[in-house]
Amino acid sequence: MISLFNSMDINTTRTINELVSAIAYVLDVMSEGTNLYHSWRVSIFASQFAKAVVPDDRKTIFYAALLHDIGYLALPEHITHYLFTREDPTQDPVILSHPIIGAELTSQIPNLSTIAKLILNHHEWYNGRGYPLGKQRNEIPLGAQIILLADQLDMLMRSGSAAGTKAIEKEISSWSNERVSAELLEAAVRVIRDEGLVEEVSEKENIPAVFNRVRTETGPVDISGSVDAVGIACEVFSQLIDTKHPSMIGHSKRVSVYSILISLSMNLSHDDITKTKWAALLHDVGKLGIAKSLISKPGKLTPQEFEAMKIHAVYTRELLETITDFKEIALIASSDHERYDGKGYPMGLKGDQLPFGTRIISVADAFDAMTSTRTYRKAMSKEAACDEIEKCSGTQFDPAVVKEAIPVLRNLSVSLM
Ligand SMILES: [Fe+2]
Ligand SMILES: [Fe+2]
Ligand SMILES: [Fe+2]
Repeated sequence: MISLFNSMDINTTRTINELVSAIAYVLDVMSEGTNLYHSWRVSIFASQFAKAVVPDDRKTIFYAALLHDIGYLALPEHITHYLFTREDPTQDPVILSHPIIGAELTSQIPNLSTIAKLILNHHEWYNGRGYPLGKQRNEIPLGAQIILLADQLDMLMRSGSAAGTKAIEKEISSWSNERVSAELLEAAVRVIRDEGLVEEVSEKENIPAVFNRVRTETGPVDISGSVDAVGIACEVFSQLIDTKHPSMIGHSKRVSVYSILISLSMNLSHDDITKTKWAALLHDVGKLGIAKSLISKPGKLTPQEFEAMKIHAVYTRELLETITDFKEIALIASSDHERYDGKGYPMGLKGDQLPFGTRIISVADAFDAMTSTRTYRKAMSKEAACDEIEKCSGTQFDPAVVKEAIPVLRNLSVSLM
């Protein structure tokens, strides 16, 4: 049995919390380079309001606020096209359904169902005019009202129609018993006044520091996490990656399945298979930071566009390295464009310098890319893709992996969706 990794030694609660933060980072900071900081600002406000109103639920509310717009990721412009009430003339089914999609995604992770419930209700208005369910008053969980208030406050600040605490206070006073309850609004106004939060987060440069301060103060959400929960969180993350760009639907999932099949035929240990699988699910996470127009471009990329595209491997490593126990997975996942002969990117690693998991994922990734239809070419047959991989054995790919992978991939009797 080949051993690739140190034993599976991870702090699951910390890992899930850090994964959730990484997802939130992708949601806006990394989103097409626009640096919206929307989720971070909403979670800063929500955490401070929760501290004043429902301190026991602060952690849950903070993490739900971080993920509140997770159902939006498939939209190119994220939150810029916003809708306020269910009667809004600009109704768009994608917008109306984002709380439902977000709740569905989040509820898959064990122990996050309370967070999923808050996400489902984060556009409900106190007067019943919100969406998607048209709930009213106390039917709406208080945590969801807090997130709505924080969200609308951020939208108001972003619109530029009210600058400074005084102007904001005046504007939001009309939301009393309309968007949120009068009691909540009064408490929130006191927080805004006392803490100078509006001024603090108005400057973009301040936001990462304020966010980290509030996150530390809030503390991790209590998840008695198992290793399985980390795996499911990786799956959810990969679903986001696979839905952002239509040309990549199902790609990360299929690469992980092919990687598992190759790992099984190479007799890897359970822990090694698990880590290879997680790295495969996350190998293209950096593509979330690349413009849709580039990834879905019909036709070949120009040399300049190709250079811009290559940055995704660096983004993948940087993002995954923010997860304390994922240092090894970050390297495995972000190296899948390295080549066995050292002529790949981003670092030009060669031969044994490449983590073994990477050498498996590279073959699985190339196989899926060749057997999937791209905007600029039709899908190749399994046989033709395998011939191509064999041709690159010893240059692009590790010959030992190719030798084991080809019989598996060539004989697959089904096509994975
Ligand atoms: Fe939203
Ligand atoms: Fe939002
Ligand atoms: Fe890929």
